[in-house]
Amino acid sequence: MSELKKEDAALLAKARKVTKQAYAPYSNFFVGAVARLSNGEMVAGTNQENASYPVGICAERVLLGTAATLYPGVSIDTMAISYDSNEVKSDHPISPCGMCRQSLLEYETRTGAPIRLILAGQEGKIYIVKTISYLLPFAFNSNELI
Ligand code: THU
Repeated sequence: MSELKKEDAALLAKARKVTKQAYAPYSNFFVGAVARLSNGEMVAGTNQENASYPVGICAERVLLGTAATLYPGVSIDTMAISYDSNEVKSDHPISPCGMCRQSLLEYETRTGAPIRLILAGQEGKIYIVKTISYLLPFAFNSNELI
């Protein structure tokens, strides 16, 4: 944490805190994501589960939907993702699921700027990923549809 730039440390602190807003009564795994946009605004998302399990949505895609609605066309500079749990220790980074990687990648492409990720638990190691495209090589994309 002490090696992070001040604004990155602040973003991660918010992601850690916003896990409290997650609705995850089935997994007890509370994920929080907070992004800093290129216009300086911040947007957050948390996972929202459902008794019909597949209906649940991850924190990252809640965030993307909110960002696209509030600030259409504005790119995301950095997204911090953290989690908490009643059942496991939150002492290492988690990485976005495959479905979120696909969504994040298209957000990068459509806004024309890399999304930098800060990944961390409530404590422990912190990973920084420079662009979501590193997490989804050889991805399916809209070029295949035209
Ligand atoms: N989850 C997220 O919100 N983001 C991730 O990066 C990984 C998983 C959620 C989905 C589900 O509500 C819970 O965490 C357990 O998988």
